Amino acid sequence: MAKIGENFIYELKNLCDIVSIIASYVELKSVGKSRKCLCPFHSEKTASMVVYEDTQSFYCFGCGVGGDVITFIEKIENLNYVDSVKFLAHRVGLSIPDDDLDDQISKKRQRILAMNRLAARFFYNNLKSRAGRIGLEYFQNRGLFLETITKFGLGYADDSWDSLKNYLHANGFFFEEMYDADLVIKSTKGTYYDKFRNRVMFPIIDAKSDVVGFGGRVLDESKPKYLNTSDTLAFKKSLGLYGLNFAKNAGLERFILCEGYMDVISMYQNGFRGCVAALGTALTQAQVRLISRHVDDIVILFDSDEAGALAMDRAYKMFLEVGISPRALRLKGAKDPDEYVKKYGSARLKLAIDQSISAIKVKIENIASKYNLNDPEQKKRYINEYCHVVSDILDPLEREVYVGQLCQSLKVAREIINNHVNYLLQKKRKICQKRLDKEISRNIYTKRMHKNVCSKYEKAERGIIRFLYNNPDYFDYISSKIDDSWFSSKLNKKIYNIICDRIKSNFALDFLLFHEILTTDEMGVFSKIVNEGKDFANTTQEIDDYMRLIREKYEKEAENISAMTLEQIEVRRKKYASGKR
Ligand code: CTP
Ligand code: MN
Repeated sequence: MAKIGENFIYELKNLCDIVSIIASYVELKSVGKSRKCLCPFHSEKTASMVVYEDTQSFYCFGCGVGGDVITFIEKIENLNYVDSVKFLAHRVGLSIPDDDLDDQISKKRQRILAMNRLAARFFYNNLKSRAGRIGLEYFQNRGLFLETITKFGLGYADDSWDSLKNYLHANGFFFEEMYDADLVIKSTKGTYYDKFRNRVMFPIIDAKSDVVGFGGRVLDESKPKYLNTSDTLAFKKSLGLYGLNFAKNAGLERFILCEGYMDVISMYQNGFRGCVAALGTALTQAQVRLISRHVDDIVILFDSDEAGALAMDRAYKMFLEVGISPRALRLKGAKDPDEYVKKYGSARLKLAIDQSISAIKVKIENIASKYNLNDPEQKKRYINEYCHVVSDILDPLEREVYVGQLCQSLKVAREIINNHVNYLLQKKRKICQKRLDKEISRNIYTKRMHKNVCSKYEKAERGIIRFLYNNPDYFDYISSKIDDSWFSSKLNKKIYNIICDRIKSNFALDFLLFHEILTTDEMGVFSKIVNEGKDFANTTQEIDDYMRLIREKYEKEAENISAMTLEQIEVRRKKYASGKR
């Protein structure tokens, strides 16, 4: 059982009302007994997140995110479980006894961080060895000074299958742990070997100066160019930003968003301290939000190729969605900022950055260059495309400015343009709403593991769980009549068993205490189970029906199985084992 003291969690829970915590991030509206808000975890225009005061939980019917106050903090502050608990504790002025943090997950995570730290030092030290010379030469050929290499902790993973593995092992780490850190790969035979071989290494350092993962680049043109740490307990690729550890401490009001590790490093060496990059993935909404929490002056500075232009188009809209109007800079004469600064020097780059204009303006200028405005047909298309861009802007005042400019330059009546922009806005809202509706129905229907056959069984399973959760006194009654193998959904079975175990051991049943055992996503499902349809399944009659239903289904399946050939059973068993079903 969890060692993060349950008493402590209780105390914390009493002090952290979910409603007031969430209300400090988003605007809550009361609807009957519950409260609704725009979900901060996906972009939407109508409220689909519900906050339940009585169960101290939340659920978004749009994107399926849900959980308790700790899950909420995990998600919105990009923190892990332990840090979220600390965060909340700090907020309400509770101090956590250190022993309480010795829970298993946090221990595991600490081990991963310790391994990463050792690995980073190992890679760095390699640069000084004979075998690692080529790594050092690679960086030097790319113009990096020793000082920069040290600052970013760059390194080299030698061309061996086991040097890091042996090094970590000699330092007291198990292969299984290295595997959890994604530092080694498991072969089909079950043996382990180094993941990064013959690559220059870029440690990824988070805001707390922990090495959370690595990017490794080949020294030549071979593929894949970069290999990155997959998500681990210590690392979530989609949440972090390369360089944020330096950028956020530079005390700047402006960040520069680049595409790659090398851009960030090379720009830093040239005096640009506020550079960040996504971690080997397309930019995510979470990363955009993370940046927007630090600054609101952002220059997007991507590669000059077609891919960079497309990425720019996507990125600037993502910033608009969080209410920030970013600047955009397209470099000419070099493929990326790294090359540009080497070719033209930092003074010229600084000027270009300082003079960079809003992404919207850049976009509009691009459109203008495409059309001949003396041709009425082309002029109409130009106006239409212009209005499309303007309708992405959230801020009405900023929209108004751009509409004004268009009307002035083309001598078109303001009313007409305004009408058109409003029409496009409406249309976009409708599309958004449709997408949301779709998402909602997808969530409701596909989240059931057995789409057609099982929906009513799944409902029955959830009904049983909800009832037991709310009426633990019925444990004997239910457990004497039911067998957990009757559950057709693995997750339902897991939750049912957790509840039973806790009741058997006389542990309290509290939503918050399931955190240690369920993943964040599973907490979301559990939140839904606990909250949905609170008004039914309140009688033992109903529970009896549910139990009968899932027993019948189980027996029917068993009957089918007895009619199967051995091969059929084997296929089924494999399917079951792989979790596909
Ligand atoms: N990237 C990746 N995997 C790849 C290619 C790219 O994860 N196979 C990510 C890396 O984070 C990289 C970024 O995308 O830094 C940008 O890619 P690219 O422009 O190809 O690389 P650069 O960072 O410019 O690296 P270099 O200058 O060494 O070519
Ligand atoms: Mn690049």
